[in-house]
Order: sequence, then structure tokens, then C-alpha cells
Amino acid sequence: MAAAARARVAHLLRQLQRAACQCPSHSHTYSQAPGFSPSGKTTDYAFEMAVSNIRYGAGVTKEVGMDLQNMGATNVCLMTDKNLSQLPPVQTVMDSLVKNGINFKVYDNVRVEPTQRSFMEAIEFAKKGAFDAYVAVGGGSTMDTCKAANLYASSPHSEFLDYVSAPIGKGKPVTVPLKPLIAVPTTSGTGSETTGVAVFDYEHLKVKTGIASRAIKPTLGLIDPLHTRHMPDGVVANSGFDVLCHALESYTALPYHMRSPCPSSPIARPAYQGSNPISDIWAVHALRIVAKYLKRAVRNPDDVEARSNMHLASAFAGIGFGNAGVHLCHGMSYPISGLVKTYRAKDYNVDHPLVPHGLSVVLTSPAVFTFTAQMSPERHLETAGILADIRTARTPDAGPILADTLRKFLFDLDVDDGLAALGYSKADIPALVKGTLPQGAYENPDPPFLFLCLYIIPLKCGLCEALVI
Ligand SMILES: NC(=O)c1ccc[n+]([C@@H]2O[C@H](COP(=O)([O-])OP(=O)(O)OC[C@H]3O[C@@H](n4cnc5c(N)ncnc54)[C@H](O)[C@@H]3O)[C@@H](O)[C@H]2O)c1
Ligand SMILES: [Zn+2]
Repeated sequence: MAAAARARVAHLLRQLQRAACQCPSHSHTYSQAPGFSPSGKTTDYAFEMAVSNIRYGAGVTKEVGMDLQNMGATNVCLMTDKNLSQLPPVQTVMDSLVKNGINFKVYDNVRVEPTQRSFMEAIEFAKKGAFDAYVAVGGGSTMDTCKAANLYASSPHSEFLDYVSAPIGKGKPVTVPLKPLIAVPTTSGTGSETTGVAVFDYEHLKVKTGIASRAIKPTLGLIDPLHTRHMPDGVVANSGFDVLCHALESYTALPYHMRSPCPSSPIARPAYQGSNPISDIWAVHALRIVAKYLKRAVRNPDDVEARSNMHLASAFAGIGFGNAGVHLCHGMSYPISGLVKTYRAKDYNVDHPLVPHGLSVVLTSPAVFTFTAQMSPERHLETAGILADIRTARTPDAGPILADTLRKFLFDLDVDDGLAALGYSKADIPALVKGTLPQGAYENPDPPFLFLCLYIIPLKCGLCEALVI
């Protein structure tokens, strides 16, 4: 199984080394005829919004037992991680299930930043339990693990890589019906309660990848801001950076009508379709909330207004990026977390080295947006203007202005400074780049964006150098 995945990645690398760079950020000759990509393939003409049902309110978790009763569930799987299993969010869910007479079994072995192996363990539990509904209580790690468990328990004869995104997996469309899944997010970051995405670390290649299909999105997200009061500051900050990057990346992603190929059937239209007018609204709104509340939410756990708003912002950004996709910060983050050596993040109660997802994403953001601003300077400047006062700025300076705004934001929140602080040196650049390459297809499956990532290697555009400084 690992050999097949390796062969697919090696094939992709060979193809890409032969390819000329058509990166939209750097190629001055980049142009695109309407309806066709630079490689001549037809581009898409439509986009589709898929979102879970969402219910928001302080204390709304106590309704979960009634929801399951209304769904007719009789045998429920409750998933969480070891740390959260001792905290009030899980207790509140269990109380509601007991009160409403719902039979359930607890799986609390979710790995923070899940791996293929930890997904498989959860899948085994789900298969054996023959559950008729799932409840995930936790951050992105728990919600994603639960989505995978539901998918493979509903499709018991599938191999693990069948539904994993290409090129690492086969990227098969999901056609089996899944069981209802209620997601109760306890971080304010991933927006996983709204998305059809499940991310894991593929240990064989030491990179993160995922499953992306509308079919795996939760049936219902119960967003209860009371849970955010238990979050340590470090988790608030890192999950907040994830919201920031979801919003910025989805707003600056390649537009859906420039993505190719045009799918032959609606089921083949990817979950991540490119920026589009509806996702744009959610991204910009989420960014405004981040600008107003993230620092307050980190600095004061009793600031209920700030923490509640960040919890909503996480869902807003999820609705945006869950349909538009993300790009370079996320593409490059996966080897940054996958190749972790000894780094341990403050406030994360886990027994293994860990670079939290939000931190791995945000560290490259100043370099990334300096690079991508050339493609859509107006959008980059607009986002800088939401995050800071930039009244005198000129559009051609959009990249450096957004980069400086982000650097100041991170400095104010005392973020570890650059990849060197996580234990990486220049000697790690080839491995980090190699781990980034397969992400092009997963994060934004359009060739120009793939080349954008790949451009780093053949032409040494300096982005990697920027990352380590
Ligand atoms: N599916 C998606 O759309 C999507 C999007 C972005 C990221 N992700 C993935 O999500 C994962 C990261 O998720 P995350 O940032 O939400 O955090 P997490 O689920 O990894 O949890 C981080 C830590 O915070 C603790 N924690 C969570 N909520 C808490 C609370 N209310 N009180 C006290 N402690 C709490 C957890 O126990 C854990 O130790 C990564 O694997 C990432 O790749 C998924
Ligand atoms: Zn993310």
C-alpha cells in the first residue's frame, strides 16, 4: 500500500520536474483564455456550496441527546481525545445522552494531530461497534478521526487509500451512505464541523494528507461557546491562526472558473473548488472577527465575547475554505508538522512531539502572501486593510504590506519565531519541499497552483530561504 503511494508521488515528481513553470505569481507570460487552463484543459464553469447544518448557542450541547433521539439512534459512538475526556464538554454530552436514554460507547483514543495508524484504530472500533450514529467532541483531530471512522465503517470493504486524496491515495468518490455524525467543536480553529475534509499524517511519507468529500461532512455542528472557556491560551492562539489562514488562503485561492479540468459529472467536482463569490463573503467576515477578537481571546480566558466570536469565526472560515480550498500556507504546513523532531508546543497536553496545525500554517504566511500577492494584489491589500490600518498603502506593495501586517500580528502574540524555533535548519529544506509537493493536488487541484508549489524547487524563488530566516 505504501509502495503504491510512493510510486504515485515519484511519478508526479518526475512529471513536474519536466514541466515549465506557469506559476501565476511569477510568470509574466501567464495568461488564460476563458474556459481553458494554461495546459489547454477546459476549466470549470460552476461551483457548489456544501455545508453542515449548524446550531449555535451557549449551552446548546445539552440538546445532543434529543437530536440523537429524533434521528432514531440507538447505538452511538462518542469520540474524543484523552485530555478532553476529563473535561466538561465530554461530560455535558454524556449527561445529555444518559438523560435521553441513548446507548453509547466512548472512544477516547483519538490522537492529537491524527495519523494513518490512529485513524485505522478508530475505524476498527467503529466497524466492531456497528454504530448507527456518531458524536465527535473535540477539536479538528477528533472531528476528522470521527469522519474517517464513519466513512470506512460504512464502506467496510474499501482499502484505506481508496478515499484518500490523490496523488497519495486513489481519491475515489464516496458513493456509500454514511451514518449521522454530530460534531461538537471545542477549539475555535479548524471549522471541521462544517467541512467534508479529514486530515491525517501519512507516516510512510511523513506528510499530512486527507480525505476530501462532501459526503463525509457532519450532519450537524453544535457550536457551544461555553466549551471555549476551558481552552488553554496556546490552543486559542494556534487554532485562531488556523482561522486566519483559512480566511486569507481561501480568499486568495485561484478562482473556481480557472480550475481545471471541468468535471464530467457533478460528483467529480472537488470539495475544494477555488475562490468563489459565496466563500468570499464568509472568508472576509471571518477575517474581520479575527482582527477584532483573536488577541483578546488569547489574552483573557474570561473574555466571553471574544472567545464566543472566535468560535463562530472558525465556522465562518470553515464554510468559506471548505468549498474554496486553501493553498500554500496549508500545503507547506503538512511537512512542517509531519517532520517534527522534538518540538513540544506550550499548553498541549500530549505525550509526543507536536507542531500544532495552526502554528505550522501561520509561520510561512508572511513569505507566502508576499509571493502570491502578484496574482491578486487588490485582494491581498484588502485583507491587510482588514487586519490593520493601511490607509496610505499602494496596490503594487500589497504583498510586503500584508506580510508586515502578519509579522506584527504574530509578534504581538509572542509566536515562536520562524521554522528555526521549531528545530528546523537549512539542511531540512529539501525534505520540507519534497513533503510539500504532493499537497498541490490535494489542497488546490489546479495545475497553476501545483506549479506554484513546485516552482520552489527548480527555480529557487527564495521562498524556502525566507521560511528559515
Ligand atoms: N477537517 C478540516 O477541515 C480541518 C481544517 C483544519 C485543520 N484540521 C486538522 O485539525 C487538527 C487540529 O485541530 P485543532 O487545532 O482543533 O486541535 P486538536 O483537536 O488537535 O486539539 C489540540 C489540543 O487542545 C485540547 N483541547 C481541545 N479543545 C479543548 C478545550 N475546549 N479545553 C481544553 N483543551 C482542549 C485537545 O485535548 C488537544 O490536546 C489537525 O490535525 C489539522 O490538520 C482539519
Ligand atoms: Zn487549517
